[in-house]
Amino acid sequence: MEQGVVIVLLISGLCTLCSCLSRQYHFVNIEKSWTEAQSYCRQNYVDLATIDGPEEMQALLETVDGRRHYAWIGLYDDRESWQWTLTNSSFYSEGETEFRNWKVGEPDKTGGCVTMDSEGTWTDVSCHISPGNPFVCYDDDPQRYILNTKKTGWEKAVFNCEKHYTSLTIIRNQTENKKIKDIISDSQDHDNLDVWIGLFREPWSKWSDQGVSSYRKWNSGEPNNLGGNEDCALVTTSDSGRWNDRNCDDKHSFFCYDDNLILIRVNKSWDEALSFCRQHYGDLVSVPTEQVQRSVNRMAQSASTAHVWMGLRFSCAMKFWLWLDGEITWYQNWAPGNDTRECGQRGAVESGAGQQWVSLPKTEELNFICRKCEGMCDSTLKQKHVLRMKLNALSSLNMDDPAVAEAMLQQMKVKLADEGITGVKLRWRKQADGKIFHREEEEGKEEECENMEV
Ligand SMILES: *[C@@H]1O[C@H](CO)[C@@H](O)[C@H](O)[C@H]1NC(C)=O
Ligand SMILES: *[C@@H]1O[C@H](CO)[C@@H](O)[C@H](O)[C@H]1NC(C)=O
Ligand SMILES: *[C@@H]1O[C@H](CO)[C@@H](O)[C@H](O)[C@H]1NC(C)=O
Ligand SMILES: *[C@@H]1O[C@H](CO)[C@@H](O)[C@H](O)[C@H]1NC(C)=O
Repeated sequence: MEQGVVIVLLISGLCTLCSCLSRQYHFVNIEKSWTEAQSYCRQNYVDLATIDGPEEMQALLETVDGRRHYAWIGLYDDRESWQWTLTNSSFYSEGETEFRNWKVGEPDKTGGCVTMDSEGTWTDVSCHISPGNPFVCYDDDPQRYILNTKKTGWEKAVFNCEKHYTSLTIIRNQTENKKIKDIISDSQDHDNLDVWIGLFREPWSKWSDQGVSSYRKWNSGEPNNLGGNEDCALVTTSDSGRWNDRNCDDKHSFFCYDDNLILIRVNKSWDEALSFCRQHYGDLVSVPTEQVQRSVNRMAQSASTAHVWMGLRFSCAMKFWLWLDGEITWYQNWAPGNDTRECGQRGAVESGAGQQWVSLPKTEELNFICRKCEGMCDSTLKQKHVLRMKLNALSSLNMDDPAVAEAMLQQMKVKLADEGITGVKLRWRKQADGKIFHREEEEGKEEECENMEV
């Protein structure tokens, strides 16, 4: 045998040929208030609709007839979500985080940040007003308040206070409020001195199902809090689904969602589980994103086994973990020490505790989660990934010969197919110098991935 040499090469492949949306939307054409709609969805489905991106928005709109409807979704504005930038609870006695001294008529949802005026009363304002406001910092040891009269943006004020003192000021009771008011009134141009304090909130940041999607599709000029009490979001179906804020007590139709997944509470080996899902539903579940992970977690909680099979396996040929649809595990949620690289291992998720991924021998008999595909494959989700591999090759091989490169590719595809992995398209990627293969020079190069749209 000749001595092996290490080379580096790049593969780009269409990793996702078929990616199911993890939510199935339902349009309910019964007029209800937002809270009533929420109860209805929780009883009959999972919850009011959470929407993670344009593909999901499209799927949601496709559940409606062509007519114009105004329909609730799960997004709402929680007026009570004010919090201090200083979160460490050891700074507050009981009830002190809840102290407020709003001006009459405030907060009126003008924005997510708060100023105090020379009367000592508070107003909510936009965090992004230019050129900002003076601000008061708090220092804990010894307790003192520091006024900075330079007009500053809110984020800069937070940064500045945390750098030099404890935080942008907290206010825990009337005594402290008066101290800060006195500092403002004692300063020279106190008449028009509104100062930042450390209270803030993120408007329109909550979904009914506690989801964390940051996707928004507001109509222009919305949300506008018309009439002063618009805290719930609805979709106008005819207006390419743009969103509007409305009074939560208004009655409208609404969108619920179901997980596009099903937990099978029967104990099977990984191979048996795979056949079962393919026969009755679609496939064993893939978890390409944190959002799908949350749906999987919800399901796994009712399993009768400590772990639940997912469609995750280790490819011996390629030496990495792959989802059944050929997708590489860009999103990862391994329990510590479980990202092992052994042939025959399969991936499961813990049904309790941290709900992280563990690698187990495929012969273990576990509950499992299937995904219901129902032709919902979305070809627009195809993704191209680049991956760097290290190979040991015989030094007699002419690595610059295209025929050699092609032969290696074929061999890799055959190996993948032997393992039952299809749906991955592989091709070599030439590097800047026109070559595919490079002899390894640096140490410690690992697989490296880039995400690119096709
Ligand atoms: C909270 O503040 C206390 C007192 O300053 C400090 O000892 C502790 O480490 C802080 N905790 C965290 C989580 O920062
Ligand atoms: C106000 O809060 C500060 C900080 O917790 C505390 O030292 C002070 O005793 C409180 N004053 C009153 C009147 O509660
Ligand atoms: C599956 O296995 C678990 C744990 O070993 C056991 O508690 C449960 O009863 C089994 N379920 C079935 C349907 O056999
Ligand atoms: C995998 O994770 C579980 C749960 O954290 C842990 O008990 C187990 O030891 C880990 N396995 C390996 C091989 O580290």
